[in-house]
Formats: sequence, structure tokens, C-alpha cells
Amino acid sequence: ISPKYKFFREQGLRPERQLPSALIIGVKKGGTRALLEFIRIHPDVRAAGSEVHFFDKNYMKGFQWYRSHMPATLEGQLTIEKTPSYFITREAPRRVQLMNPSTKLLVVVRDPVTRAVSDYAQAVSKKPEMRRFEQLVFVNGSVGSIIDTSWGPVKLGIYSRYLARWLKFFPLSQLLFISGERLVLDPAIELKRVQDFLGLKRVVTEKHFYFNSTKGFPCLFKSEGHSAPHCLGKTKGRSHPYINPVVLQRLRDFFRPFNNHFYQMTGINFGWA
Ligand code: A3P
Repeated sequence: ISPKYKFFREQGLRPERQLPSALIIGVKKGGTRALLEFIRIHPDVRAAGSEVHFFDKNYMKGFQWYRSHMPATLEGQLTIEKTPSYFITREAPRRVQLMNPSTKLLVVVRDPVTRAVSDYAQAVSKKPEMRRFEQLVFVNGSVGSIIDTSWGPVKLGIYSRYLARWLKFFPLSQLLFISGERLVLDPAIELKRVQDFLGLKRVVTEKHFYFNSTKGFPCLFKSEGHSAPHCLGKTKGRSHPYINPVVLQRLRDFFRPFNNHFYQMTGINFGWA
């Protein structure tokens, strides 16, 4: 318990739960857990630990239910939640707007080709008998045929389609796009952008990170609930299966026009090949 909380408790004051004013809405396998763990180091940020799935699965339970799943905050602290499926949920933009039209939206995006492989790697880890990526990615299972856009790992990578839905309800200025690639290469730079966007002091800096060469990812010196250095869990930064390079190239070609459209919509070139 922090001295601040102790003080409040002694004064008989109870921290309150608030609905989130910022959401990490996606994308699945983009690096959403890393972003949440990094931003919650900030003393003015309080985060719901697990994915609440309010705007997709639990919406009918109501805003009181949602609020009860938020951590307690003191005045001036910002509440944040992350559920990556919000980005692709048709009803989510309208529902978030209804909660609070000034909600700040954070989207971690990653090259849709590696994102697809990452998504597949996660699925295989739960269901080892799954068919190979190279089969599932094509409509009739072979390189000669067309890409199966109804297959989740492919479908979710067409970011422009989902973004268009959000832009019907929110101005572009209320969304911040974080490069999943840069979040790995230089987390401090991305965190600076995030803190500025959220109107927070720049507290989370390069001093908080170190590169763990065994894990191959940036890890934290210390953070909320951890006094020792630590990395994200084993399910973050999995090794990816070998995928036939011809298939990867087909996928890259497939995503190119959608990526370009996404760059136009956001005004950012993410540099995916
Ligand atoms: P891989 O496991 O495919 O490498 P999400 O949290 O949205 O599910 O995203 C998971 C991805 O976050 C991981 O995908 C990994 O590449 C990325 N990531 C970004 N920063 C990370 C970090 N510091 N430690 C571990 N994974 C990180």
C-alpha cells in the first residue's frame, strides 16, 4: 500500500472507481499487454488488470457493472482498460461514444503479416492438432488459390475496415496509433507519445526499461506490484512457427493495398513491407 493510500485511509477517505477515460482497443497480438503494463507504471494511471470485455461481451450488464470492475482511483488519476477485441466489434464505437464521447482511444498496430502468424501461433498453442498456417490461409488450402479473408488471422489485419467504423463516431484526433514494432525496438519513444496524448507528465522513460537478451524483448526494472525486474509472461513473445516464404510474400502482396489505405487514413506510414 502506497503512503498516499495510507493517508487517504487514515483520513477515512475512500478512493473511488471511475469508468475509464482511455481504452486500449486493439489490435489483438499487436502488443496491447506490453502497452498496458508500461503505461500503468505511471503513478497517475490505474488500470484494470484483466480484459473486461465490456463493450463486446458484457455490455448488457450495464455501466455500473463495468465501473465495479475498475480499480479505485484517487483524484487526478486516470483509469484505463484494454480489451483488444473492441477494435473489431461492430457495436463498440457507438457504445464507447455513449459512455463518454471524449474517451481517448489507443490502438497498437503491427505488420498484419506477422500479426497473423502471431495470432496463429497463439491458436496452435491452445489447439496443437490445428492445420498448418499455409493451408488455412488459402481458400482451398494451396498456394495457387486465393487468400481466405474470412479466416480470423487474415481478416483482423485489414485495419482500415475497422478503423472506418470508429471514425464514424470519433475524430481521428481522439485516436492514438502506436507502432507495435517500435514498442519492441524503443518502448520509451512510444510511451512518450502515449503520455503526451493522455495529458500525463512524462514519467515513464527509458530508465524503466532494459533489454533482456534471453527473452529478446524489453522488460521492466520495476512496476506496480513488482519490486524486482521482470518481463511479460511466457505467452508474450512466443516463437513463431516456420512459414513458407512464398506464402508470406503472397500475404504481403494481399495486405499492401489495405495497408496503404490505412496509412492514408491515419496519416502515418508504418513502413510494413
Ligand atoms: P508474439 O508473442 O507473437 O511475439 P498482445 O499483448 O496484444 O497479445 O500482443 C502480443 C505481442 O506483444 C507479442 O507477440 C510480442 O511481439 C509483443 N510485445 C511487444 N512488446 C513486448 C514485450 N516487451 N515483451 C513481450 N512481448 C512484447
